[in-house]
Amino acid sequence: MAEIASNDEARRELVRLSDLIIEHDARYHGRDDPTISDTEYDDLRRQFDELAARYPDQAGDLAATRSIGAEAGAGFAKVAHARPMLSLGNAFDDDDVREFVARVRRFLSLDECEEVALVAEPKIDGLSASLRYEAGQLARGATRGDGAVGEDITRNIRTVSDIPHRLPGTAPDILEVRGEIYMRKEDFLELNRAQEQSGGRSFANPRNAAAGSVRQLDASVTASRPLRFFAYALGEVSQVPATSHWDMLEHLKGWGFATNPLAERCPDVEEALAQYRQIVEQRAALDYDLDGVVYKVDRLDWQDRLGVAGRAPRWAVAHKFPAEQATTVISAIEIQVGRTGALTPVARLDPVTVGGVVVSNATLHNEDEIARKDVRVGDTVVVQRAGDVIPQVVSVVPEKRPGDSQPFEFPVTCPCPRATAAMRAEGEAVRRCTGGVTCPYQAVERLRHFVSRNALDIEGLGDIQIRRFWEDGLIARPGDIFRLWERAGEIAEREGWGEKSVSGLLAGIEARREIGLDRLIYGLGIRHVGESTARLLAANYGTVAAWRRAMLAAATDTGSEAYGDLVNIDQIGETVAGELLAFFREKSTLIMLLDLEGELTVLPFAAPEERESQVSGKTVVFTGTLSTMSRAEAKARAESLGARVAGSVSRKTDIVVAGADAGSKATKAEALGVTVIDEQEWIELAGS
Ligand code: IVH
Repeated sequence: MAEIASNDEARRELVRLSDLIIEHDARYHGRDDPTISDTEYDDLRRQFDELAARYPDQAGDLAATRSIGAEAGAGFAKVAHARPMLSLGNAFDDDDVREFVARVRRFLSLDECEEVALVAEPKIDGLSASLRYEAGQLARGATRGDGAVGEDITRNIRTVSDIPHRLPGTAPDILEVRGEIYMRKEDFLELNRAQEQSGGRSFANPRNAAAGSVRQLDASVTASRPLRFFAYALGEVSQVPATSHWDMLEHLKGWGFATNPLAERCPDVEEALAQYRQIVEQRAALDYDLDGVVYKVDRLDWQDRLGVAGRAPRWAVAHKFPAEQATTVISAIEIQVGRTGALTPVARLDPVTVGGVVVSNATLHNEDEIARKDVRVGDTVVVQRAGDVIPQVVSVVPEKRPGDSQPFEFPVTCPCPRATAAMRAEGEAVRRCTGGVTCPYQAVERLRHFVSRNALDIEGLGDIQIRRFWEDGLIARPGDIFRLWERAGEIAEREGWGEKSVSGLLAGIEARREIGLDRLIYGLGIRHVGESTARLLAANYGTVAAWRRAMLAAATDTGSEAYGDLVNIDQIGETVAGELLAFFREKSTLIMLLDLEGELTVLPFAAPEERESQVSGKTVVFTGTLSTMSRAEAKARAESLGARVAGSVSRKTDIVVAGADAGSKATKAEALGVTVIDEQEWIELAGS
């Protein structure tokens, strides 16, 4: 934070921050249309709290000292999606799109002469919904949620005019239609006018207006809002009516759904890029907001084979529109500490609207980036924001630099009260706090990660509550969260809390006392262990006890079988293994895990595909060249059937699939008495 010299200055800054906090509280709670991210909000709070602690006399009467943060969303029942609702990978330019198609070709092992036809369709900027029809009747509507579980919005979506309630007899018996709920620009402006007249609050953009209107507990309010729906995908279906995405869209139209008129079937990637340019040209004249173009592999059999990687399908990609830019002034450069100790410089900006959203922070990435761009406090800079990406500082406007400006000196200590040394490893751009488990800032970040959406996903325990509870000693490590019930009375006494909100919080916590092994591993926040690595580990070790025992054995002796098994898991290399073992060698993190195990019921990993397969639970090694599919496809298929794929053959291998020129792995397998099969036998076994 820029140094504040006098009481007057502190007062001005405190008033400014307090106003912003109150404004964003109102947006978040009252209007369901936040214009800043949770992290940005948290930063405002942090700045305010820090300054208020130093100048209590100047802060005492300000509203922000009494305001509370996000409260648990209540009211909608949860719905598990029969098939996950996916997100999309991004492409930012033509070459990214060409590379996407090249990846598809490699994965499918396509001949050169075979073209990959794509459907190019607008990416609608609304909120996605899944509509379930049973025997032709609209049975349920749900939001995307985390992709696996959404919220039941059946009553609300029934009021959307272009969602049919009944389908013609030609529609499959069970049909889930996915698409985007959105609001037209014109309707959005009209709604805001009406809201203002009636004393209601206005929305920042059509997307927020649509989201806020759908998430109304009173469906009659939703009914009064001009919502619309474009259909673009299927979820569960009893019978797939088409062989291509294009035909599927035609069927949707036939059943009475609105599909986007700008969707186009393109015989190859260059045609798809031409369609993108067409859509860019028409964008401003359209009466709804787009944030890009989605390309989908047209052939549904190819979509099937391509499958899903992580949360996004391999058969589709979103081509984002160019980022929107604006200029503003950097008021300060602050350093944030991540859960793995990385110091990230963040530019505090005079608030500016970029593409319809108010931006007051932008990332400066790292030390080298600041030096390269020579970004200084007081500089006027160009900032940009693309879709949901964190805003960035693009460049400095040199003419506007104040005469007395000084180059930014990157700190060599952690900004936390302990001010531990921060070091840069050779060849790395990132400087890290060396405090490890002793650094309080890292501790809070680890807790935030632990409860975050893709980890434990504890409702009612947002960034703000975590920090407050941590500061006041209610939680020091993850296990403490599950003992918060012991201090319910104390929490209810706190400002902004009451019995009702406490019982909501405790219910949110209890709902997660049973948790999947993959989520737990991810939640531990071990460096380099993201969601897909966590899933891989969960799939390979099955139970938390088996995983812990194996990691401890590997950590004690890297010559052990356990270590060999770990690095033999396909996609787990020495780096990931090193971080895992560091976690298990550190007494405090190990105790943290054991403590958690005492509180939780950790569910063994469930293979994603339900149906029994002959390879589920088996360890498979692929070797040699396969002729009908790529190695990547074979591996993805094996994993989707519940098999583990390993890189080399050992006594623990169950099956070796030997393609042409298999070489030493096949020989070793035979020597160990492991079953060796050829590609054709594998195809029969895997049923592909
Ligand atoms: S396809 C695999 N098509 O974009 C299917 N999504 O970034 C995934 N979206 O959650 C979705 N327009 O809310 C698809 N024409 C379109 C879309 C679209 C908007 C949204 C959707 C999705 C998000 C992924």
